[in-house]
Amino acid sequence: MTQTNTPPDTAPSDAAPADWTPRIVAFVCNWCTYAGADLAGTSRLQYAANVRIIKLPCTGRIDPMFILKAFEQGADAVLVSGCHPGDCHYTSGNYHARRRWGLFRQLLEFTGIDPQRLFFSWVSAAEGQKFADLINQVTDEVRQAGPFDPTNPARKQPWT
Ligand code: FES
Repeated sequence: MTQTNTPPDTAPSDAAPADWTPRIVAFVCNWCTYAGADLAGTSRLQYAANVRIIKLPCTGRIDPMFILKAFEQGADAVLVSGCHPGDCHYTSGNYHARRRWGLFRQLLEFTGIDPQRLFFSWVSAAEGQKFADLINQVTDEVRQAGPFDPTNPARKQPWT
């Protein structure tokens, strides 16, 4: 008797494949969250390996197209993280990012993407544990939400 990976006919069409794991793209600022992620690594903290980090000079550099492109390329969630308020190395970049946050969420709604798949957090260079906890929390929430748009052909592209 042969076994297949085909789900039973009764499975809902949007059910996650058995081998699915969340894909999270994290846009992080170079000075705080990236250093916090580095600290998590050098401290050998364990956290979910579901995140791909893209370093920005500052969260003020985040662009709505970066977020949409990440989803188009197969991300199940996007995280933006940078310096705490008052700690931005470019004075107010994180305030600019925070101000645009509502617009990002409206844009996602407009394009049919659940805004709950977009996360934002402040993580400093000294908060390696917070970074690890954040990644675990986001991974858990995305796992609950399931894969993003499984009918999107872009999801079939290899994760690189
Ligand atoms: Fe980190 Fe601006 S330098 S948010």
